[in-house]
Amino acid sequence: MCRLCWGVLFVLVLGIGVVVYRFGFLGSALPGEDGRQAIQLDSGERNLVLAEMRAFLEAVQMITAGLAENRMGNVVTAARRVGLAAQKGVPLSLMGKLPLEFKQLGLDTHRKFDRLALDAEQLGDPDHTLEQLSELLRNCAGCHAGYSLVAVRSP
Ligand code: HEC
Repeated sequence: MCRLCWGVLFVLVLGIGVVVYRFGFLGSALPGEDGRQAIQLDSGERNLVLAEMRAFLEAVQMITAGLAENRMGNVVTAARRVGLAAQKGVPLSLMGKLPLEFKQLGLDTHRKFDRLALDAEQLGDPDHTLEQLSELLRNCAGCHAGYSLVAVRSP
């Protein structure tokens, strides 16, 4: 192959690498003034993520209520509602703005709710569920310690 072709190929591969790194790995996070990474979203995207967060909190409330009343059926329903299936509506453009670690923590949290639901259904053991919930809440706390969401005007 000609030298120029190799040159063009190299630049192309490099370009693809940069795009993958930028959108798959880094996202659009900047160091925030409170020491956390501030993820820059447009206000619609921020509202979407925050709505998902409120659904998380509601699920946690319903799970603890279910445990306190020993109604494992309610626990299962509440946890399933925020399982992986709930994640499907997230647009690709938003995904590209989230840092890899954030995406991983988010996915893992949905997965842990699914796992909690499955175990609650199959084992019906409140102590086990409570342990899983406490483990899962570490994800919430960990992510909140590391990231904030700021709304910026989209270009
Ligand atoms: C992958 C990261 C991540 C995970 C996991 C996560 N959160 Fe959040 N959450 C955030 C960020 C970022 C914000 C915005 C915080 C800010 O801007 O100061 C937020 C905001 C919230 C809010 C405020 C919502 C509003 O309307 O303002 C609630 C409530 C919340 N999270 C609950 C939870 C609960 C409960 C869990 C665990 C079951 C959880 N979150 C897991 C990242 C996460």
